[in-house]
Amino acid sequence: MKVLRSKVVLRDHFLYVVQSGCIGMANFPFPDLPPSPLHRIQVPFEGGTGCDVYIKRDDLLGSPLQGNKFRKLKYNLLHAIEQGFREIVSFGGAYSNHVHALSFIPRLTGLSVTCYIRGEIDDPDNPTLRFAREKGIRLIPVTRQSYRLRNDAAFQEALMRKHPKGFLVPEGGTNAYALEGVAECANEISAQLGADPFLCIVPVGSGGTMAGLIRGFGSNVRVIGVPAFAGVQAMQEIQQRMENMAGDVSRNWELDGRFHFGGFARMTPELFDLILAFHQETGILLDPVYTCKMIAAFRDRWSRGDIESSADIVLIHTGGIQGWGGFRQRFGEKYDTGQLPVM
Ligand SMILES: Cc1ncc(COP(=O)(O)O)c(C=O)c1O
Repeated sequence: MKVLRSKVVLRDHFLYVVQSGCIGMANFPFPDLPPSPLHRIQVPFEGGTGCDVYIKRDDLLGSPLQGNKFRKLKYNLLHAIEQGFREIVSFGGAYSNHVHALSFIPRLTGLSVTCYIRGEIDDPDNPTLRFAREKGIRLIPVTRQSYRLRNDAAFQEALMRKHPKGFLVPEGGTNAYALEGVAECANEISAQLGADPFLCIVPVGSGGTMAGLIRGFGSNVRVIGVPAFAGVQAMQEIQQRMENMAGDVSRNWELDGRFHFGGFARMTPELFDLILAFHQETGILLDPVYTCKMIAAFRDRWSRGDIESSADIVLIHTGGIQGWGGFRQRFGEKYDTGQLPVM
């Protein structure tokens, strides 16, 4: 079904295309998509305070757009389609989950995709980029220097002159549309529990997922964000960005920057052991960049008995499983991924 010139309306999880007075189901985004599961887990670490702990399995959303990428791209794509754009233009790292998610857009929506890739691509055939290319994404490498300007208004304006029918989705998808989509995850959780949780813990990159959860939950729920990167300046920037995105919704949040394990996409034997143990005990596969660090932060608080309430805690599994492909390629000799499911 052609969607580009049609009116698209959203009801619950369904997008409908209204054509010639009839309503038909669009091929985006995935008819019959139920809420992602909310699994109660037996916490595999010592400690605890009698809380029930759940993990929101956005990695099992049942959509090719996995995890927080579905949440963040949903209203972006809906808007682009509604407004008659023909192309999505975005930015991403060479191994990023965002680039992987963008790869599904042409098939799902009919929109073409151009993605500017950060830095010189040392391996143009890495699993993420190969997949993107196979799916028909146009990949354009830009120097790290130019890439730093990606959020600069003048730079974006000049760039978009090259894409007259393009809709710009920022790196990681974080913008107002993304927050709207992620807020739905919070609403799902409260509906599944029949009440708001006491605490929610989520990994952080650009902060959009955390801000969307804060927006969805409001001030009743404490939200702890765990940045996957290190550095004083980066921490100051994310703190400021979170103030801008969430400050007027709720002050009931904090960033816990202690669990970066040396920096973005870095792995240590301790972190890898945590991934293995968590998988062995719960059957849940974490991703090697974001969710593993979120679980490390949770383990720390849990083991220290640092979680006061006996009410529910929800950990957000934001997906990112495709990252194991690149991880294997980069660290396969150092870390034995053979004990994890084939990815
Ligand atoms: C799997 C996964 N989890 C968490 C994040 C962090 O999300 P955000 O950039 O919204 O903070 C990302 C990056 O977008 C991601 O790919």
